[in-house]
Amino acid sequence: MSKIYAFANQKGGVGKTTTAINLGAYLAFSGMRVLVIDIDPQANATSSLGFDKNNLPLSIYDAIINKVPITKIILLTNHLCLDLVPSSPVLAGAEVEMVGLLAREHLLRKAIVPVVERYDYALIDCPPSFGLLTINALTAAADGVIIPVQCEYLALEGLTLLIHTINLARDTLNPRLRIRGLLMTMYDTRTNISQQVVEEVRTHFSDKVFNTLIPRNVRLSEAPSYGQTILSYDPQSKGGLAYRALAQELIMGDNLKF
Ligand SMILES: Nc1ncnc2c1ncn2[C@@H]1O[C@H](COP(=O)(O)OP(=O)(O)OP(=O)(O)O)[C@@H](O)[C@H]1O
Ligand SMILES: [Mg+2]
Repeated sequence: MSKIYAFANQKGGVGKTTTAINLGAYLAFSGMRVLVIDIDPQANATSSLGFDKNNLPLSIYDAIINKVPITKIILLTNHLCLDLVPSSPVLAGAEVEMVGLLAREHLLRKAIVPVVERYDYALIDCPPSFGLLTINALTAAADGVIIPVQCEYLALEGLTLLIHTINLARDTLNPRLRIRGLLMTMYDTRTNISQQVVEEVRTHFSDKVFNTLIPRNVRLSEAPSYGQTILSYDPQSKGGLAYRALAQELIMGDNLKF
């Protein structure tokens, strides 16, 4: 049984993409077959995995708007067992085009049906908004949402709205939708605020928070400019070790063979 997770938070720059690609790389390294699905018109996951987002023959746009079979769109990455459904800037127009389509919230779910069972994990990287693209991701995310939360002031702000949106999507579109976990990102050991934010989020969400903390680590921000994940760029960095630990925590929690 494959697991399908969406990485969502309407707040920008909290680590959704960094988590989707690096967790994806370590899951693949652990022997899982992984498909990263980029549904953000910024196409950061696509370029972080080494592809030119402006020069792709096909992208997720063609799957959801033109009904091109997803098998024709999937790209193989530099990592064994880590595949990508790329995005492209043309996806920015999709939200408007989707409005007129039948069952517009289910377009992504339907598009990926033919391939998900080939993978152990499908990881959907969402844009920082609650538009139809994110709603499509929440509808397709059969096993839940992973919410990256940046360790900074006002981290909890916006989470209420996100959880409300997730509940709404669960009640109307995807009864299996749940919060798989909140992931604390950009944790800085040198600051008290990081510690305080983690405590605050754990107080509110207790066991929903992953034990693994993702540290602020410059190597994580450098890797995408080389089109690499942290697994190939610097696996011994603090960021690399953290995403490796997160992959183990997720696999153990999901009860898949490790
Ligand atoms: N743990 C980290 N340490 C240092 N830099 C990080 C870390 N996580 C992410 N970054 C950097 O912070 C920026 C935002 O991260 P990322 O793109 O993953 O966030 P996002 O939530 O996907 O953003 P958006 O909402 O725009 O899609 C990027 O430049 C990324 O390289
Ligand atoms: Mg992103």
